[in-house]
Amino acid sequence: MATPIIVGNWKMHGLTSEANEIVSELLNYSNNHEIQIKTVLCPPFTQIAALKEKIKGSPFLLGAQDCHPSPQGAHTGDISAPMLKDVGADYVLLGHSERRRDHYETDELICEKAIAAQNSNLVPIVCIGETKEERAAKDHKFVMGIQIKGSLPQDFNGFVAYEPIWAIGTGVSAQKHEIAEIIEFIREELTEQFGERGKKIPILYGGSVKPSNIREILEIEELGGVLVGSVSIMPKDFLQLLEIAHDFIST
Ligand code: PGA
Repeated sequence: MATPIIVGNWKMHGLTSEANEIVSELLNYSNNHEIQIKTVLCPPFTQIAALKEKIKGSPFLLGAQDCHPSPQGAHTGDISAPMLKDVGADYVLLGHSERRRDHYETDELICEKAIAAQNSNLVPIVCIGETKEERAAKDHKFVMGIQIKGSLPQDFNGFVAYEPIWAIGTGVSAQKHEIAEIIEFIREELTEQFGERGKKIPILYGGSVKPSNIREILEIEELGGVLVGSVSIMPKDFLQLLEIAHDFIST
């Protein structure tokens, strides 16, 4: 495995006081320890600019949780990729299952957003994953094949995050063999779709990653890192993830 990537998805959490508290703890740690893990924090839009200032000079990187496919225009309430870049984001989560659910996002739309992100020099982190019902019906690979083909643009240059919907926010992650099987499948699909380049696209796992299970998850071959929800706003636990991930740095 290359040096693991850890992405923290704060979701709709983080008032200014909370964001400051979380980041102060992270900075307190990074001031005293060398962090060699690529660590991306994805706070809500409202905190990006302020956090950019706070993390200046630290190893932490910033991402957003969504962007609009257009660079600007009459889209009340939306945020574009150039706006995210403007306030200091370098990454953007796209197609998270909660956005597919709450905002009826389609693979086609996610693909347009990924293009917009790349046009603004943001790294898109495209999320895919199956429901409990799709897995029970043994349709999960089929469903993910469609998501991969539909939501990744031809010149895709980001990360793919496998997040089984049934494991998100439940406290129970998918089992190691289940993750390993799907990561292998995703790698095959990426290689089929992008050739040699597809072999290098980092594939992350997300869904109830926590200090007690990250080690066995990171042991999975071909896994590029993890996408963390709930634990990303619990700085002590999040820092434990970083500590454990350091054992996986390739030499
Ligand atoms: P979780 O969320 O770690 O709370 O399961 C992961 C995600 O939704 O990205």
